[in-house]
Amino acid sequence: MILRNRPDLDENQWFALMAQPTVSSGARALLEAEGRRRFGAVHYRATHRGSTAFDVLWAQLPLRPGDEVVMSTLNFVGVADSVVRAGGVPVLVDVAPGRLMAGARELAAGITRRTRAVIATHLFGMACDAPAIREMADRQGLVCIEDCAHALGVCIDNQPVGSFGQASVFSFGFEKHLTTGRGGALLIRESNRLGAEPRLPASTRESDLEVLLGAWLEYMGSDPARCRHPFRLDWTGHEAIRQHPSLRKNLMSYAARGMVPDDRALRACWNRVVAHQRGWDWWQRRVVGPAYRAVGRCGPLQKYVAPTVAAMGDLRAAVCRHELLRQPPICRERRRRSDRLTERLRSWTGGHIAPGIQHNDSQPLQLPLMVADPARAWHLTGLARAQGIIIGPSPWGLPLHHYPELSGKVRLAAPSLPASEQAMQRLVLVPLHAGVTDEVLERIADLIQTVS
Ligand SMILES: Cc1ncc(COP(=O)(O)O)c(C=O)c1O
Repeated sequence: MILRNRPDLDENQWFALMAQPTVSSGARALLEAEGRRRFGAVHYRATHRGSTAFDVLWAQLPLRPGDEVVMSTLNFVGVADSVVRAGGVPVLVDVAPGRLMAGARELAAGITRRTRAVIATHLFGMACDAPAIREMADRQGLVCIEDCAHALGVCIDNQPVGSFGQASVFSFGFEKHLTTGRGGALLIRESNRLGAEPRLPASTRESDLEVLLGAWLEYMGSDPARCRHPFRLDWTGHEAIRQHPSLRKNLMSYAARGMVPDDRALRACWNRVVAHQRGWDWWQRRVVGPAYRAVGRCGPLQKYVAPTVAAMGDLRAAVCRHELLRQPPICRERRRRSDRLTERLRSWTGGHIAPGIQHNDSQPLQLPLMVADPARAWHLTGLARAQGIIIGPSPWGLPLHHYPELSGKVRLAAPSLPASEQAMQRLVLVPLHAGVTDEVLERIADLIQTVS
C-alpha cells in the first residue's frame, strides 16, 4: 500500500535511533539551538506536537477571554481548538477562489476591534503570501503568526517561511516533511510583543516511554485491516512498527514490566471497538487516554490534541535533529517527483494544481490537485485506492466551520465560506514520499489523466 505520507528519511536509522537506550540527555537543547540558528530566532521551543506549540504561544501572548484570532477555515482542527482552550475565539475566513490558502485580503475580512492575532497558514509545502500578511498585521497593530506545519524548508525569495511572523509553529507529526511520529516547535523571532522565554509547566517533559507508547497506540489504531476511521487508514504508525521489530521489542519489554498495556490487551480493546461499532472517540477515551495516564502525568485526554502540554523528550529530539540535518537532499527528491508529475499533467483538462504564491520556493509535501468536478475527485480517489495507492482527500476532512465540535465556539467572517467548501470537495493530494517510485508516479499520472 502506498500511503499518503511516510517518513522520507531512512526509516532504519529512525528506528535504530529510537531503540537506543542511550540517546543523550541534552538532545532537546541541541535541537533548540539548531532551530534558533536556522531562523535567527530569539526562542525556539521543541514541543510534544504542533498543537502544543500553539497552546504555549497563546499562554505567552497571553490571549485574553474573547480575544479573536483570524485564520483560514482550511486548517487543522487542533489549531482552532487551541484558541478555544485558551479562552479566545477563532474567526474563520474563506480562501481565495481556486486556491487553498488565505492571503492578506481574505484574512483582513475577519478583523474586528477584538482581533489580537492573524495566522498565515502555509499548506502542502507551498507558501501563502506571508510578507503581505505580515505587512497587513503590522498596519493593524496585530500579532502575525505563521503556521508552518506543512512548510519546513519552504522559502519566499530565499527567506525561509517561519521568519516572516513574530512567531511561528512547526509540526513533526506523521504527515509532515520531517516526522518524529509526533512533535512540534514554537519559534519566536521578535520578543517585543511576545515577551520572555516561552514557558512550559516545569513537570511536563514527555518521557521516552510516552514516545514509544504513542507510536504503539498509533500502530494499533491505524491497523488497516480493522480500522473504521477513514482518516486513520493512511497513517504510517502501522507500517513503521510492522517493519521495525526493534521498536516492538522495546514496547513489549515495557509491557512485561506492566508499564504499558501489552499487545494482547490492546488488541482485545480494539476488537471491542470494532465489535461494538464504536468509533475512534471511544478508542481515544477508553484506551488511549487511560494508557497515557498510566505512564505519567497527563490530564484527561482531549479530543484532537495532545494529551499533555509537554516539551519534546530527548529521544524524539535526537531523532528530530538528526533528520533536520539530513533534510535538503530529501526535499530535493520530493521536488523532483513533484516536477515530474506536474510535467505529466501539463495537458490535463480535469482540473489544476493548486497554486501557491509566485515568488515561492516550495518544498512539496503532497501535490494538491483541484479536480474540476467533485464527483470525479471521489472517483479518482477510489480508483487509486483499488490499486493500493492512497491519494487522499484532505487530511482534515472538513473545513473548520463544518466541525460540529467547534460550532458556537468560532465566528465566521462571512455568512458562508464557499471557496473553501469547494476546495475541500475538489482536493486530491498525491503522495510524493520516497515510497513513490517513478513507476508509481507514472501509474498515478495515468489515473489522473482518465479524469477529464
Ligand atoms: C496546517 C496544520 N497546522 C498545525 C497542525 C498541528 O500539528 P500537530 O499535528 O503536530 O499538532 C497541523 C497538523 O496536522 C496542520 O496540518
